[in-house]
Order: sequence, then C-alpha cells, then structure tokens
Amino acid sequence: MPLQLIRDDITRVRCDAVVNAANNSLLGGGGVDGAIHRAAGPELLAECRTLGGCDTGDAKITRGYKLPAKYVIHTVGPVWYGGKNGEEELLRSCYRRSLALAKEYNCESVAFPLISAGVYGYPKDKAISVAEDEITSFLSDNDMLVDIVIFDKSAFRISEKLYGDIAAFIDDKYVSEHEMTDSRRVPEMLSEKIQNPCFRKGAGRSPRPCADLAAAAESLDEALSSLDESFSEMLLRKIDEKG
Ligand code: APR
Repeated sequence: MPLQLIRDDITRVRCDAVVNAANNSLLGGGGVDGAIHRAAGPELLAECRTLGGCDTGDAKITRGYKLPAKYVIHTVGPVWYGGKNGEEELLRSCYRRSLALAKEYNCESVAFPLISAGVYGYPKDKAISVAEDEITSFLSDNDMLVDIVIFDKSAFRISEKLYGDIAAFIDDKYVSEHEMTDSRRVPEMLSEKIQNPCFRKGAGRSPRPCADLAAAAESLDEALSSLDESFSEMLLRKIDEKG
C-alpha cells in the first residue's frame, strides 16, 4: 500500500526520510520539531544552523543522525489565519517540495507528520485531506512508500472517521506522557533561567528574589500538567497569533 495512515511517534518510524514540521529558523521548537531534534541529537541542530533557515512552503534536507531514518526533511508549514491568506497553497507546497527532495535523494520510504496541524492551528481535517491529496497525486507518477503519521488524539479520531481503522502503534497514554515531557521541560527551562545569575540581576529588570520565581516554577508545573496544550505550544501559538 503506497500510502498509509498510521498512529505513531514519527521519531520511531523506520523509513528513509522523516519530515519535520519546522519553523523558518530551522533551529528547533516544540511539537514534532522538538521530538525529532531530541531523538536525533545535537548534531541535527548543528547541521540545521548551516542551512540559513527555510521559507514557508519550502523544504530542506539534513541527515537523520540518531534517528532510525537516514534523512530529515525540514519543511515549514503556514500558520492558519482562517484560510484566506494562501494557507492551503503553502501547505500543498510543503508536501510537494518534501516529496521532490525525497525523490532527489532516492528515498524509497517517507513519513510525514500532519504539517501545520498543531501549534500552527491548521484545522486537522483540512490538513489530513491536503496531505492525502498531494501525496496521492505524487504517487500516481512515482514509486515510494509514504506514511502519514498521526499522533494526537483529536487527529487520530478525525482520521478514523475519514478513513476507517488505522494501525495504531501508540496510544493516548503515550501521547500525553510525551506531550507532558514537552510541557514539563518549561519549568526546567524556567528554573535554569532562575539559576542564571544575569537573570537574577535582570539587566533592566528589577531583580526579584529567586525563591519567588522558583516557587512560581513549581506551581507553574502543577498548572501546566492540567493544560490540554503544552506551555511551549501555547507560547508558540501566542507568538504566532501576534504575528
Ligand atoms: N510524531 C508524529 N507527530 C507528532 C509528534 C510526533 N512525535 N509530535 C507532535 N506531532 C503532531 C501534532 O500532534 C500535530 O498533529 O504533529 C502535528 C504538527 O504539530 P506541530 O509539531 O505543532 O507542528 P506545526 O503545527 O506545523 O507547528 C510548527 O511548532 O514545534 C513548533 O518549531 C515548530 O514553530 C514550529 C511550529
């Protein structure tokens, strides 16, 4: 079956290339970007630093390093602003450019996440049908095995409604544990910042007693664990909403 939908963590998928839903800097982030960078190791970021970023709708390729996949194809999806700002064309371009790169590098198998369907807010049902449509038209002229890798609960429910049962290699517990890892990282990052002496003095900031902030990080941890989107995802969404 040249195109299949599966539910899995893309960092575990054995294939020639995994596609990363990156941002224009290509310097990592949360969601699948964070997962791929964590699994691939620091060499991936080092190579990404040499690429000079990536335009929305375009794609660039690096090695996969510690991932099972030989390559990572980094593509930058559009942020969803309601669908009247060329979002669909940009999303289609992500799939076309990524598949063209996979073909150029003689990949026989590729795995895609649902580009833009997380932090970037693209409606999941629309994102799934754009992915399926672009990959299907590519496969009408090319031989390749392509997986669309579904991860979160809502995307899984939507894809089952659209396409019937799909093979699931992870469950909701796995997803919430791994999304939790993402959000748990924020208090760590916060407490790292708190330990940072220059932050204590706070250039231009009235220095606050660090104990306060450490306590804030603790209570933030509880607050975060009850969020249905991780703090980093909420932060990225706010940044994108502010343009
Ligand atoms: N494996 C497969 N899919 C995953 C994984 C994973 N390990 N983790 C998340 N996903 C899914 C999400 O559930 C969502 O359906 O990938 C899809 C895309 O979500 P995001 O990773 O948030 O990507 P996107 O919406 O394109 O936003 C990109 O988020 O992480 C930052 O640096 C990234 O700024 C960029 C923005």
